[in-house]
Amino acid sequence: MTSLKGKSVLITGGAGFIGSHLIEKIIEEKPGGITAVDNFFLGEESNLDKAKSSFPEISVENIDASDYEKMKNAVKGVDVVFNLAMVPLPVSLVKPSWAFDINVDITRVICELGREGRFGTLVQYSSSEVYGTALHSKMSETHPLLPCTPYAASKAACDHLVHSYYKTFGLDMVIIRPFNNYGPRQNDKSYAGVIPITIKRIMSGETPVIFGDGTQTRDFLYVEDTARATIDAFKQQNTRGKTMNVASGREISINDLVKAICNELDWTKPPAHEKRRPGDVDRHLGDITLAKQLMNFKPTVALEEGIKRTVDWYREKYSV
Ligand SMILES: NC(=O)c1ccc[n+]([C@@H]2O[C@H](COP(=O)([O-])OP(=O)(O)OC[C@H]3O[C@@H](n4cnc5c(N)ncnc54)[C@H](O)[C@@H]3O)[C@@H](O)[C@H]2O)c1
Repeated sequence: MTSLKGKSVLITGGAGFIGSHLIEKIIEEKPGGITAVDNFFLGEESNLDKAKSSFPEISVENIDASDYEKMKNAVKGVDVVFNLAMVPLPVSLVKPSWAFDINVDITRVICELGREGRFGTLVQYSSSEVYGTALHSKMSETHPLLPCTPYAASKAACDHLVHSYYKTFGLDMVIIRPFNNYGPRQNDKSYAGVIPITIKRIMSGETPVIFGDGTQTRDFLYVEDTARATIDAFKQQNTRGKTMNVASGREISINDLVKAICNELDWTKPPAHEKRRPGDVDRHLGDITLAKQLMNFKPTVALEEGIKRTVDWYREKYSV
């Protein structure tokens, strides 16, 4: 077992949703230094307000993580890189080629910097989207990778690239593969996911929208559980070279999810249904046996509680 105490860490996508929660959890580990790399494509400086209040020395680098020269400079003296930066799935539906290239380029650059010995360990973020629609449930890490969108294909390519650098060059790495995340600070503007967008619509008095018939299922994990698992994945050295699902192990349909949000916000009218999104997977349910075995992973926040916390946060944000 290793620790983050006194270590210098760099988080790409650090001003994003999961990145900012990860930084707050990293601070609890008493690191020596923290660098958040973000080009603010979707991230926001204010996402780091809470982290800065307890660790004012955070260095925020407004750079493109796919820029080798700038990243070479940013990783100087860094022990651990947590690679979260990417453009998300909805962007890949409108700008597929650009989204694919940028996502793969970020990981390519980081792999190269790792191969050159410019930092110690890479903790790479994958996504359950790489599996595509479940061929069987629950989905373990051995489920075939059948990405349905250019975003998912880019994430799968990144996973293969990182693993190839482990095999070929001995890069010290672990890949965590989160299923759907939710919680405070999730992007609720362009390209938003179902939970923040539904909350925002209801708060503005607009009918919530479900794409397709809503029977598609997802496995939602509260963001703080993901952040804790990410740190444990670094600390437990038996994880090296492995890819681990990080999920709740519980499945919910989008219809039931939207119903739960409506209940929390006392919204009684039925949601509207719009055309199914291209590439939308039918079923996702994560098998977390490996993460339990390797790092004693256990989700701690139930969906009902997590939705309540998330709604409360957006209520405060919009003073509703
Ligand atoms: N949110 C989820 O449900 C979920 C599920 C599975 C996996 N993931 C993975 O988790 C990671 C974080 O996702 P998130 O939900 O926090 O998304 P996010 O969009 O909130 O965070 C990503 C951050 O990366 C930044 N970014 C984008 N392009 C960049 C570039 N070229 N250089 C530097 N920064 C750049 C964005 O500005 C943003 O702050 C991603 O790797 C994603 O694939 C997320």
